[in-house]
Amino acid sequence: MTAKPTILQELPADLDQDRLPRHVAVIMDGNGRWAKRQGQPRIMGHRRGVDALKDLLRCCRDWGIPALTAYAFSTENWGRPMEEVDFLMTLFERVLRRELEEMAQENVKIKFVGNLEALPRSLQAEIERSMTRTQDNQGIRFTVATNYGGRQEIIQACRELATQVQKGLLQPDDIDEALFASHLYTAGVSDPDLLIRTSGEMRISNFLLWQLAYAEFYITETLWPDFNRVEFHQALCAYQERDRRYGKV
Ligand code: FPP
Repeated sequence: MTAKPTILQELPADLDQDRLPRHVAVIMDGNGRWAKRQGQPRIMGHRRGVDALKDLLRCCRDWGIPALTAYAFSTENWGRPMEEVDFLMTLFERVLRRELEEMAQENVKIKFVGNLEALPRSLQAEIERSMTRTQDNQGIRFTVATNYGGRQEIIQACRELATQVQKGLLQPDDIDEALFASHLYTAGVSDPDLLIRTSGEMRISNFLLWQLAYAEFYITETLWPDFNRVEFHQALCAYQERDRRYGKV
C-alpha cells in the first residue's frame, strides 16, 4: 500500500458522512477483458486488479467506511485454465507477503473466508500469518473471500446447527437469524450495505447469498482494473440517493 493516490484523498463534500455504507462488498469483475483490450495476457488484468483493490481499501479507510469485503476467488473459479488458477494463487500469496506489514501498520484487520483448506499450503500459511498478525487491529475490517461459495457457506452453517441439535445442545426452535448468522464465515461483521459489481454483469454469482439480503446493488460498466476513487464516489452518490426501506413502505 505504498503509492499515495493524488485524487479524492478526503471524503468528497457532496457525500453525507453520516449516511455512508458501514460495509461495502465488491465483485471485482472484468480483469481478463481489461487485459485483452490492452493487448496483454489475462494475468496482467489480475495484477492491475490488485492495485485497484489496494486503493479501494485505502479509500474506504480515508473516507470512514469501516468494512470492505472483496470476492477474490469463487469455488467455481477452479474451472479456469490451470495456468490462470496457478497464477492467481501465487499472486494472492505474493501480495500478502509484500503488503502484510504495511496493512498491519495501517491498523487493517484481515480475514479470509471460504474453504481455505483446499488452497495451496503455502498460501494457507500466508493467510494464517496475515490473520494472526492483524487480529488485534481495530481499523478497517478487510475480508477476502477466497475459494468462497455462498451456498456452501449456508450448507456448512446448517451442518453445524444440525450437529448441535443431534447432540441435544440446541432445539430447532432456538434457531433464529442471529444464531444462523453466527455460524457463517462472516460472523461478527455487519452485513454489507452496498454491493458493487464491475464490468456490467447483473449477477450475484454465489457471493454472500445470506448477507446481501438487504444490500443496495451498484453495477458499473467499468472494468475492475479501472475502478478508482472517482468511480467509488459515483457509487456512493448513487447509494445515498437510494431509499432503503427494508420491505417497509
Ligand atoms: C475477475 O475478473 C477477477 C478475478 C477472478 C480475480 C480477482 C482477484 C484480484 C483482483 C486479486 C486480489 C488479491 C488479493 C490478495 C485479495 P475476470 O478474470 O473474471 O475477468 P473477465 O470477466 O473479463 O474474464
